[in-house]
Amino acid sequence: MARNPAVRTTCVGAGALSLAALLAVVPGSGAVSADQPGAAEPVAARAAQTAGGKPRPDARHVVIAVHGGAGTALKREDTTPAQEKAYRDGLTEALRAGQKVLRKGGSSVAAVEAAVRRLEDNPLFNAGKGAVFNEDAGHELDASVMRGSDLAAGAVAGVRNVRNPVSAARLVMEKTKHVLLAGEGADDFAARNGLPTVTQDYYWTEKRWQELMKAKGRLKGSGETLTQGTVGAVAVDGKRDLAAATSTGGLTNKMAGRVGDSPVVGAGTYAKNGTVAASATGAGEVFLRGAATGTISNLIEFGGRDLAGAAYEVLVKRLPHLGGTGGVIALNAQGVFDAPHSSEGMLHGYLTEDGRVVTKVFADETPANE
Ligand code: GLY
Repeated sequence: MARNPAVRTTCVGAGALSLAALLAVVPGSGAVSADQPGAAEPVAARAAQTAGGKPRPDARHVVIAVHGGAGTALKREDTTPAQEKAYRDGLTEALRAGQKVLRKGGSSVAAVEAAVRRLEDNPLFNAGKGAVFNEDAGHELDASVMRGSDLAAGAVAGVRNVRNPVSAARLVMEKTKHVLLAGEGADDFAARNGLPTVTQDYYWTEKRWQELMKAKGRLKGSGETLTQGTVGAVAVDGKRDLAAATSTGGLTNKMAGRVGDSPVVGAGTYAKNGTVAASATGAGEVFLRGAATGTISNLIEFGGRDLAGAAYEVLVKRLPHLGGTGGVIALNAQGVFDAPHSSEGMLHGYLTEDGRVVTKVFADETPANE
């Protein structure tokens, strides 16, 4: 694997503190590049990502991480400082929302829900507000959540009126005997349980509309779709319980009724305390066929692999052979974190025990694993 260390990693936060202290820390606000002379070296390991060909984790001492989609990383030449700031702020706000839950003693499930809700509410990301359009110029959203302590899981697929699909997924997990609700039944269930509902125009953004027009023009009825990202979060709480959550609008110009990997346990989302919390982004059909996140867990549990080795094996060695690219954020109960991907970059960020935030938004900050 040829993988460069991060080129320009933005860190936001305070000095070294214990895990307990993290949960009480008041977030810092300054932003520095870790490459600049004098910039604080994050607790996260920034060493080379390979040692004798063996994958190494991106970071250690991580308590929560988020992603904003694979294949959606920004290109420096096309990005204004204001756009860069908006993406970094979006990821940072999601991490801080999760941190706030954790520092009050909340569960990792509550933390990943809080983080993903922020991303769903942010029109920059393909989930909730800002979700992509399907071929009928409508929006159908998928989400899931999983708890690592007992393998409880909940998911919704093809919802059209829930403002925050990740919260509907959590409700399915906590209030029903089922795992996955789809379509109208899922929308009705969420509304009956008091979740805010919206009309389809809530999800609309000009950017996504233009992407649909472009897809329809370029693909000329070929039935092809465009990958447009997904959001997700993984966290470990004070009890060392893991959780993962994923939410998406799916693919631009997807068929009406198409469901991707994001609401499917073992494909887009998985969490098991002894192995990994993982949230995927990328070509959903490939992640479904490759049982992506469940396979990472199985390689750790039954294959004797460490987190980085297992995630690398699945994302870089196996899934591309199935015909699609993407990435995953993966965290274990010891705070080891990795974000391997075969796509050109992956928007993501993580927060370490000492309260530092690291965000990666440019493709050259997150070179694809090879
Ligand atoms: N990975 C998101 C999707 O394919 O729907």
